[in-house]
Order: sequence, then C-alpha cells, then structure tokens
Amino acid sequence: MLRLMSTILITGASSGLGAEMARQFAAHGNDLALCARRTERLEELKAEILAAHPDRRVEVRALDVTDDDQVFAVFRAFRDDFGHLDRIVVNAGLGKGQPLGTGRYDANKATAMTNFVAALAQTEAAMEIFRAQGAGHLVMVSSMSAMRGLPGNLATYAATKAGVAHLVEGLRVELVGTPIKVTVLYPGYIISEMNDYAKPTSPLMATTEKGVRAMVTAIEKEVDSACVPPLPWAPLSVVMKHAPMALYRRLI
Ligand SMILES: NC(=O)c1ccc[n+]([C@@H]2O[C@H](COP(=O)([O-])OP(=O)(O)OC[C@H]3O[C@@H](n4cnc5c(N)ncnc54)[C@H](OP(=O)(O)O)[C@@H]3O)[C@@H](O)[C@H]2O)c1
Repeated sequence: MLRLMSTILITGASSGLGAEMARQFAAHGNDLALCARRTERLEELKAEILAAHPDRRVEVRALDVTDDDQVFAVFRAFRDDFGHLDRIVVNAGLGKGQPLGTGRYDANKATAMTNFVAALAQTEAAMEIFRAQGAGHLVMVSSMSAMRGLPGNLATYAATKAGVAHLVEGLRVELVGTPIKVTVLYPGYIISEMNDYAKPTSPLMATTEKGVRAMVTAIEKEVDSACVPPLPWAPLSVVMKHAPMALYRRLI
C-alpha cells in the first residue's frame, strides 16, 4: 500500500497534462520528480508549486525520453534523490503523425519512437526500481484513440497508444496480488499544447484542470484502467470498440 504522501515521478511534466498533474499531486501533499526536455518550463513549474506548497519537495531533471540511456539514468537519479519512488507516470507523448504512405515516415516514426519505444524504456526503468523496492505504482497515459484503429493523422498515434495499453495489461496479469500496481489511463480530449488548435471547436473537450482532476482521482484510487473524464468517454469507449464499421466510420 502506498504511503499517504507519496513521491511521484512524472515524465513530460513541462506542459499540458503532466504539468497539471504535478500541480494537483503537490496540492494533495505529494513530493515530485519532474522531467522533460524544456527545463526552463520545469524550473518555472517548480517555483510555482513551491510558492503554493512550501513544504513539498520538487526535483527537476532534463530528459529526452527517446534517449534510452538517459531514461534509465534519470529515473535512477530521482530514486537516489528521494531514496524511493512510489509512483511513476509515463506521460511524455507526441501527436505528430501523418497519413500513412504520404511521404512522412519521419513524422510517424517520431510518434512511434516517443509514444511506444520510449514508453517501453520508461516502463523498463520504472519496473527495475519497483521490483527492487518490492512496491510501486506504474501509471501509463494511453488515449481514447487506443480503443480502435483511427485513420489519417491519427493512425500511428492510435497504434502506439494501443501498444502501451497492452504493455501495462501484460504487467497487470503478471503482478496481480503483488504490492506493485499498474494503471492505464485513456484520456479523451483535454486541452493541452498537443491539441490547442482544437480548443474552441470540440464540445467534448475538457479543460486541463477538469480533465487532469479525473486522471488524478483514478490514479489515487489505483484503478486498473479508466477513461478520463469518465463522461462521455467511458460509454463512448464501448461504442468505439463494438460499433460495426459502417457506423464507426461515420462517428469518427
Ligand atoms: N490532451 C489530450 O487530449 C490527450 C488525450 C489523450 C492522451 N494524451 C496523452 O497525454 C500525454 C501528455 O500530452 P499533453 O496533452 O499534455 O500534450 P503536451 O502539452 O504537448 O505535453 C507533452 C509533454 O510530453 C513531453 N515530451 C514530448 N516528447 C518528449 C521527449 N522526446 N522527451 C521528453 N519529453 C517529451 C513534452 O515535454 P518537452 O517538449 O519539454 O520535452 C511535454 O511535457 C501524452 O502521452 C498524450 O499522448 C493527451
């Protein structure tokens, strides 16, 4: 069982969902290990959190999650800073895809390397720490796009998010009944830098604060998996998975 106050590592903490998770977890009394490539953003976030919660401890480090060696080194360094890590949130992600076969393998490969291969490296590094500690909570930020294949710009992105969800599901089967817990989150549309262009258009889009509150609630309950926010995404996940193709094509 986790301590009431935990130490939480979040990747991709420099903006969007990662930065807001950091704010909300700090407000709930947790210490934080925050990483991303844009360290100036991390330093600003650290200052903001410590101004609001002077008793918290916040450590920041530069990390490009596509650099395997750096992933292992940074996770271990954070573990050494705090002596332990209770929870690791694999959140860093990229939504850069382009339609398959249109000459943009570079963009689709970048999405695959960041969202799947780098998430695998983060999972390996996290699980090494948790196995050594005999406890911990791994959280994978997947996406509603994992529910079913998606066309065009989202084809590669959806495949990577299905991949990371399966990775965590495999771990759950292996770890059931142990003190190591795993959670996979399926966020719907939540305002962040990744989808800022869609901000005024989609009635399904949650504010960052509201969307992340649903994520933090699910994480703190250590649920196996959750669509976040639950409405409309939990019922829509059933439709996405089971709708006949003719209907599915009209819905997306
Ligand atoms: N917002 C949504 O509606 C939504 C829906 C479903 C799933 N998600 C998932 O939620 C996660 C967070 O995304 P977001 O919406 O908050 O987007 P965002 O504001 O663009 O944040 C993405 C974060 O990932 C980090 N990142 C990207 N590439 C990285 C790399 N190579 N190394 C280290 N960090 C990297 C970025 O940090 P640096 O650039 O500073 O490195 C940034 O902190 C992603 O996994 C995304 O797929 C979002």
